[in-house]
Amino acid sequence: MNLICYQRRADHSENRWSGQQKPDWMLGDGLSFSKRLIEARKQMLSGVRSVASTQPNALQLHSLRPMRIIIEHDPESASNRAAEIISSLVQQRPSCVLGLATGSTPLGIYQKLIARHQNHKLDFANVTTFNLDEYVGLGPGDPQSYRFFMQENLFNHINIPPENTHVPDGRALDFDSYSIQYEKSIQEAGGIDLQVLGVGGDGHIAFNEPGSSLGSRTRLKTLTSETVKDNARFFDDIENVPRLAVTVGVGTILESRKCLLVAFGEHKARAISQAVEGPVTAQVTASALQLHPDVTVILDQAAACHLQRKAYYAEVEESHRLLEK
Ligand code: F6R
Repeated sequence: MNLICYQRRADHSENRWSGQQKPDWMLGDGLSFSKRLIEARKQMLSGVRSVASTQPNALQLHSLRPMRIIIEHDPESASNRAAEIISSLVQQRPSCVLGLATGSTPLGIYQKLIARHQNHKLDFANVTTFNLDEYVGLGPGDPQSYRFFMQENLFNHINIPPENTHVPDGRALDFDSYSIQYEKSIQEAGGIDLQVLGVGGDGHIAFNEPGSSLGSRTRLKTLTSETVKDNARFFDDIENVPRLAVTVGVGTILESRKCLLVAFGEHKARAISQAVEGPVTAQVTASALQLHPDVTVILDQAAACHLQRKAYYAEVEESHRLLEK
């Protein structure tokens, strides 16, 4: 029997092999074959990552594997799982660069990171962080600002040097040049290793509202009335919710080496099913994550309730678990 095998290289060219015997990377069977395949994939992905960090347009990337979908029972166990992923990166690479989000979703994750810092001495001394967004007009001392949120809910409780933390400045004088500078700072820090993301009810990531270009960069963005309504819970009066924000773009997010999208609650279920199983569209900016080569989505049962392929995701997770043993 003549075998024909194709191996995809990181530059998207293909290695064609044909002959009577299997090439080395196909030898073995069962678990050992799967492990070999995962190793081969890891090598290919590391190639793709270096492409991602040198090429400004991440939309040129081909997705080499589907999103990893982890469905936990409740927000508590989902936050634990997310905190585990972040902690192991910090342990493995103490000078890693984290992309961080604000809002209700990451609160439990930040509490778990603080606990790990206090109990297990998880060390943030060399970590650098970049936040996704900030309301225009709010200064760092304003309790509704995202800088204030990050200080209160994470930075004040861990040993991260203040100069290593970056939250966009909502009071910049010239937002065009400020946005270019923010992107430059991310690049100078070596790019984002792990980007933590929540998702809006309308499918936004960061403040990339429906219709945002999938190649967008850091810029000013007008918030939709849905987002203003959603976020009014953090303000005394809906009238006080800023209508403008400075936000990293979808293109900026896609350049992160790994993305971790987290969502809890039934009010996120529609956005999650569109992002994960719907078409890639600027109308649901979270769907752009389907173009990224390394995305993990962590959900509770409620946020996963509209997913069509839940049983399959559970089987894939089970295989992952077996292979990790
Ligand atoms: C916040 C951010 C937003 C939120 C999203 C979900 O930095 O980037 O995209 O992640 O609006 O907010 P919560 O978690 O409050 O439901």
